[in-house]
Amino acid sequence: MISKEQILENIIPKHVAIIMDGNGRWAKKKGNSRIFGHKNGVKAVRDAVEAAAELGVSYLTLYAFSTENWNRPKAEVQALMALLVQAIHNEVDNLNKNNIKLLVIGDTASLPNDVNSNLNLAMEKTAKNTGLKLVLALSYSSRWEVIKAVKSIASDIKTNKITPNDIDESLFQQYLETSNMPDPELLIRTSGELRLSNFLLYQMAYSELYFTEKLWPDFRKEDFYNAIYDFQHRERRFGKISEQLNNDN
Ligand code: FPP
Repeated sequence: MISKEQILENIIPKHVAIIMDGNGRWAKKKGNSRIFGHKNGVKAVRDAVEAAAELGVSYLTLYAFSTENWNRPKAEVQALMALLVQAIHNEVDNLNKNNIKLLVIGDTASLPNDVNSNLNLAMEKTAKNTGLKLVLALSYSSRWEVIKAVKSIASDIKTNKITPNDIDESLFQQYLETSNMPDPELLIRTSGELRLSNFLLYQMAYSELYFTEKLWPDFRKEDFYNAIYDFQHRERRFGKISEQLNNDN
């Protein structure tokens, strides 16, 4: 296990994204219901947020509910939504105390009203905070996001706001849910699954991927440190060769 002291302060990723996976399996192992797993996942969320804030990460994006998660049994979806409302409500003071700003990406229009009103209130209350930006991906999927962006671009071309020639990476970025956010430099996925599951696919073109067998409810600060330490010891070449990187410095 890596301790906080082993982390190099000058190579902290600006943006870390997490696929919090394994709540259901964690609960099943304990002979409990899936929602018991989700409830225990909230503690892991707190640990990851605290660790990210302490290390000086600028953005932490959590995949809390995917577009595809709507296909889960109705009772589980309802319980997850209730848990979100409760967690957001309970954590606002803590977010403020730690100077953390809450943001949301995803198809929020599809969320129940009470989730939206709680989210909006929490975002308002934390809007002036200047520390970590905690981004919840809710009713989010990459394909939904990219198609939405393409539709908006088409509509802006039709109304002569832009021309096809204006389309480049920087313009396209402005149409994504993550406009103005740096791309994630590190993705963490728990529970041993080796997939991206429709999460930030465009933004993760050059992200380092870190997979751990830990199930999400067991994820602690030290696990976050492990991922950051691992990231710090990788060579990120962005298509170049090692020797070029050394010359760049
Ligand atoms: C994946 O585990 C987890 C989710 C779909 C939900 C994550 C939600 C929380 C941790 C609750 C609260 C979140 C916040 C941001 C306060 P899974 O159900 O897919 O597990 P399995 O793969 O073992 O079935």
